[in-house]
Amino acid sequence: MTLHFPEGFLWGASTAAHQVEGNNTHSDFWLMENMEGSTFKERSGSAVDHYRLYKEDIALLAELGMNTYRFSIEWARIEPEEGRFDEQALDHYRDVLKVCRENNVTPVVTMHHFTSPQWLISAGGWESMETPARFARYCAHVMRELGEWIPYVCTINEANSSIAIAKIIKRYKLGATAAQVGINMEKMTQMEKYNVQLSQAFGIPHSDVHTFLALRTEQGMDMIFKAHMEARTAIREISPHTQVGLTLSLYDVLSVPGGEEHAEHALHEEFLQFIPYMKDDDFFGLQNYTRAVYGPDGLLPLAEDAEKTQMGYEFYPEGLESVIRYVTKHLDMPIYITENGIGTDDDTRRIAFIDRALKGVHACIADGIPVKGYMHWSLMDNFEWQLGFSKTFGLIEVDRTTMERKPKPSAFHLGEIAKRNVLEGGTRNETA
Ligand code: BGC
Repeated sequence: MTLHFPEGFLWGASTAAHQVEGNNTHSDFWLMENMEGSTFKERSGSAVDHYRLYKEDIALLAELGMNTYRFSIEWARIEPEEGRFDEQALDHYRDVLKVCRENNVTPVVTMHHFTSPQWLISAGGWESMETPARFARYCAHVMRELGEWIPYVCTINEANSSIAIAKIIKRYKLGATAAQVGINMEKMTQMEKYNVQLSQAFGIPHSDVHTFLALRTEQGMDMIFKAHMEARTAIREISPHTQVGLTLSLYDVLSVPGGEEHAEHALHEEFLQFIPYMKDDDFFGLQNYTRAVYGPDGLLPLAEDAEKTQMGYEFYPEGLESVIRYVTKHLDMPIYITENGIGTDDDTRRIAFIDRALKGVHACIADGIPVKGYMHWSLMDNFEWQLGFSKTFGLIEVDRTTMERKPKPSAFHLGEIAKRNVLEGGTRNETA
């Protein structure tokens, strides 16, 4: 069976600045990674040297057949000290955008992808009432300088990440094991330790440290909503042609009898509570990796025989279709899949994942749901935060000793689909 996608569909891959660029020295993550007793498996260091090699990387993405590149602009580079904007960093991203244009690649720009400037964190971070205005000011500056080159902006990546962190920490404290939680707890629980390290570095009380990937109070949630809305207003004022949206990471939330209330609560926290602040956006950035099944006592452990990814969560590409269908019931706007992918060292599983996920996307489009693009996470293997370089999500492999890039078969596979805009075969019901 051959499945055709609409003309104009955006086919691409995503990265985030800190995970690929290298030497992001003014960011909070850089500080945490380089502290004595750091909880990070390794340092990001020069990452995969994308700050230097972006031209080759974008050309490779285009050569493979993709037409879209989602990447993030690093706030800590643009504004390394409060109110001081760095011309060289702006020139760099201007050139990244220019190279996209030269390669007929549509850029989708994220303004904040987990990392923040150190000065922002020492000034109260993501709980401070001043952060929305500070974030909007940075976005405004970027748009004034680069807006003419930017058709799409995701203001904040995974604005709901603190909710996942809170849940995992709670379960961990109640004695759950990683296998029971089914998602990577090591990564999540260590987030708490960040704060201790940063309070030492900044000489401010532990309770005043609020990084982005952390637990959040109600006021903190409010700051996230406001940051998104104030940034959206600022971006639109300066660059009316730019489409603005937010991205959320969404599990396919399911329940077995007795788990319905838990599932509803999860849907509210992870998605529904964001709707009032997104309803005036131009698009929604949907990110999905797996599913979460709730029972009477909360999240159910993975079945013994479930196929697991490197991250410990379930291989479940069908989740994407369900999440798209759920989102559409509540949000009437174009949807872009801004992340979807799998950490694995078996690239045949990545190919199967892509095919099965895209079948779902196609079925949604066939039913009239406005899915307008698919951006795979990730363009290349990169720095997976706390877990360092051990997790491989990339379509392209990188040898970090030589920085040589080597596309995996999955990169050619997705590129072929993109070039021909068609998906062949009936792998939908394939089992592991
Ligand atoms: C994040 C990425 C991360 C990926 C894989 C997403 O939630 O946006 O930064 O690398 O998950 O864990």
